[in-house]
Amino acid sequence: MTARSGEGPRVHGQGLVVARAGRVILDHVDIEAEPGVVTAVTGASGAGKSTLLWVIAGLIEPDAGSISPDNRFDLSAVVVQSYGLLPVLTAKENVELPLLMRGVTGEEARRRTEGALARAGLPELHDRLAEELSGGQRQRVAVARALAMGAQLLVADEPTAELDAASASLVVTALRAEADAGVTVVLSTNDPSLAALCDRVYHLHDGAIQPDTSRVESD
Ligand SMILES: Nc1ncnc2c1ncn2[C@@H]1O[C@H](COP(=O)(O)OP(=O)(O)O)[C@@H](O)[C@H]1O
Ligand SMILES: [Mg+2]
Repeated sequence: MTARSGEGPRVHGQGLVVARAGRVILDHVDIEAEPGVVTAVTGASGAGKSTLLWVIAGLIEPDAGSISPDNRFDLSAVVVQSYGLLPVLTAKENVELPLLMRGVTGEEARRRTEGALARAGLPELHDRLAEELSGGQRQRVAVARALAMGAQLLVADEPTAELDAASASLVVTALRAEADAGVTVVLSTNDPSLAALCDRVYHLHDGAIQPDTSRVESD
C-alpha cells in the first residue's frame, strides 16, 4: 500500500534548548515519542510548539541538549503550519509532486494521492488550484501530502487549526490510523478537545514543559 519500511523511530529528546535573538524559545525540554503512539504538544500561541516540532522533525538543530535518532529528517513527513503548498499547482499535484521527486512511479503516486486526499477528508476538488482553496481545504491537502509520503515519523503542526469539528475529527482519525500502522506521530494543537484524543500530551508554557503534562507510562 505504501512505501513505508518498518515501524517509526523512538524519538528521545533531552534538555533541548533553542534560543533566538537572545531569547530562550525552548527551555530544557525533555520529550519522547514512539511508534504506535500519537503524541501531542499543546500550549498557547508563542509557547514554542512549532519550534519543538521542527527540532523533532530534524528541520532545526537545538542549541543545547540531545535528540535521537539522528536520521529524523530522512524519516519524516511534516505538515507545516502555513501548509507549504505551491499555489499554482492543483491539490492533486501538490500531493503527487514530492512523491514523484522521491522516485515513486506515476501510477503509484496517483494511487497514493487519491487515497491520501480521501483520508484527509478532501475527496473532491483534486483539480482545483491550491490558491483557489479555502484555508481549511489547503490544510487538508497539506495533511494528505504528508499521509501520502508513507513516512515513519509524521510531524503535524496544528493540523486542524482551520478545520470544523467534522473535518478535524477525520484528520485525527487518519493520524491515529498512521500510528496504528506503526508510525511515530507527533502533532501540536492549542485545542484541548483534540489533545484529549491523543495518547500522550506535553504542555508547553514559555518554552518549558509543564509539570501537569500527562504521559501514557510513567518512568
Ligand atoms: N527565528 C526566530 N527568531 C526569533 N524569535 C523566534 C523565532 N522563531 C520563533 N520565535 C519566537 O519563539 C516563540 C515560540 O514560537 P513558536 O515555536 O512558533 O510558538 P508556537 O508554535 O507555540 O506559537 C515565539 O515568541 C516566537 O516569536
Ligand atoms: Mg506554531
